[in-house]
Amino acid sequence: MIQRAALLRSRLVQSLQLCPVSSQLGSRYCYTSNAASSLQQVQEPSIYSGDEYADVDWDNLGFGLMPTDYMYTMTSSKDGHFAKGQLSPFGDIKMSPSAGVLNYGQGLFEGTKAYRKENGNILLFRPDQNAIRMKIGAERMCMPSPSIDQFIDAVKQTALANKRWVPPPGKGTLYMRPLLMGTGPILGVAPAPEYTFLIYASPVGNYFKEGFAPLNLLVEDDYARASRGGAGGVKAISNYAPVFNAMKRAKGRGYSDALYLDSANKKNLEEASSCNIFVIKGNLISTPATNGTILPGITRRSIIEIARDSGYKVEERDIPVDELVGADEVFCTGTAVVVAPVGSITYKDKRIEFKVGAQSVSRQLYSTLVGIQMGHIEDTKGWTIEIN
Ligand SMILES: Cc1ncc(COP(=O)(O)O)c(C=O)c1O
Repeated sequence: MIQRAALLRSRLVQSLQLCPVSSQLGSRYCYTSNAASSLQQVQEPSIYSGDEYADVDWDNLGFGLMPTDYMYTMTSSKDGHFAKGQLSPFGDIKMSPSAGVLNYGQGLFEGTKAYRKENGNILLFRPDQNAIRMKIGAERMCMPSPSIDQFIDAVKQTALANKRWVPPPGKGTLYMRPLLMGTGPILGVAPAPEYTFLIYASPVGNYFKEGFAPLNLLVEDDYARASRGGAGGVKAISNYAPVFNAMKRAKGRGYSDALYLDSANKKNLEEASSCNIFVIKGNLISTPATNGTILPGITRRSIIEIARDSGYKVEERDIPVDELVGADEVFCTGTAVVVAPVGSITYKDKRIEFKVGAQSVSRQLYSTLVGIQMGHIEDTKGWTIEIN
């Protein structure tokens, strides 16, 4: 215990020395002048002693950035081959003002979580699926990408290096954010000559301020999130800022998020700003089909499988917004939101309400998914990877 604390302290000293003083995000560590006294504070054993935890108020985690000790970076050579990935202290990164990602939005992101088991080990949930999705996205955005093995290895390294930031069981998760971006300089409109793969991490709690309370969604029939032939089906960074106005409008009117319709006919449900949507009627669970405008969520795919295993009929198809009238339940899925019940959807000033609560189907699906992710339910599907 004493030895591990000493090791952590020396790692932290290392990170303090290396951390850029100008780093805003990393400024918490940049006690360059009187590091020794500040270090004592940072290294105080937490109430969860018996294991080393960062000094965090684990009972009040939200979904905001809390910088952790390390990030992982790997750059591509000119031929697009990724090699020599490494961990370094979390901090700002340097790039040319003419980097492809800054000028033309050539970038992708992913999101995956590390869960702490009761025995202290860490579980990862389907990181191979994030790796595959990043590969597909990279092809769409004309970028080289790390191999599946490189991606998974990088996620493991990031989780382990930041292990003290993985919240205690039941308190939250360590959210990891893999990025792939054109960091080489380019002036004319074209793919960048060099790429960086980076993963940083932050402990998180609930994504929506509602916590476990049901979401209230507002159907957006002005702004579109994606269109046929566009990049809505991949996790391109450029898909997100264009919906900020719709989100702002929905939140400004007291709703949790905006729900988008297909851009061509404004008729069928697509998804919310950062999660997929499901509609339940009797024994039938429906979700919009992924046809290039909807992100194929890993949680979505997992829930489809869990629901089928539980005896529900699941259809991936067009769902007209009018079908919400008469639906029993609606819920959203995503790595960040997990399985979030929807209490109401407002469309053209008409509010439609759905069943929520302990007896709901969405609660049952949530419990099974989270049970597998946290190691409480046996993983018979090979979805989790245990590391320590
Ligand atoms: C637009 C969008 N849809 C759906 C999802 C859910 O995907 P996943 O379950 O893989 O997190 C996300 C989050 O990644 C998203 O950004």
